[in-house]
Amino acid sequence: MLKDTYQFLRLSPVVPVMVINREEDAVPMARALAAGGLRVLEVTLRTACALSALQAIRDAVPEVTVGAGTVCTAEDFSAAVAAGAEFVVSPGQSEALFDLSRESGVALLPGAVTATEVMQATVSGFPVVKFFPASTSGGAGAIKALGGPFPNTHFVPTGGVGPHNHGEYAALPNVIAVGGSWMLPEEKVLAGDWQAISQLASASVAAAESLQAGGGTQ
Ligand code: 3PG
Repeated sequence: MLKDTYQFLRLSPVVPVMVINREEDAVPMARALAAGGLRVLEVTLRTACALSALQAIRDAVPEVTVGAGTVCTAEDFSAAVAAGAEFVVSPGQSEALFDLSRESGVALLPGAVTATEVMQATVSGFPVVKFFPASTSGGAGAIKALGGPFPNTHFVPTGGVGPHNHGEYAALPNVIAVGGSWMLPEEKVLAGDWQAISQLASASVAAAESLQAGGGTQ
């Protein structure tokens, strides 16, 4: 069980956000991402098969750390953990989610974009937050500005992140990882083109590594 959000995020500077429509895609998709070097996967609870897909990945792809995303309610949280989620990501935050994370010991990455939300998450014991939707919430400029009053908070920008702006986020000292779906284009998933997905995953890892080498922060 991963108790600390830092523990799983330090495993990977890029977290793929998976929307799985066909359960049979879950394992090959996870293996393709892992083959490209992405070992921390977020399965969003947005599709009918999401929980069984998460469970299938947990059972069949031990080399990855798999969590649940789009967790909005206490019921979502419990169902995700029952399906094997090793961490939980929410687009927002609530006392119920904070309590469940504390009680269960399953790491929670809550959403926060405003100063008030960052304050609430941080004082509640969650100093790492998902900055979502990043592109329409002020992007890298907003995360940099939030670093002034909140020097001990770390951000995971997600939503509109891709090769075109990955570097802007990774250059910030308070960005610990980025999340996104750009390495999982819908047409490649539909076609079962796992090789293409591995290549995109591997390109995202190479970009993260070169950003680190060039003065990024992870
Ligand atoms: C999420 O839920 O984290 C986002 O939908 C991912 O955003 P993206 O598809 O713009 O990367």
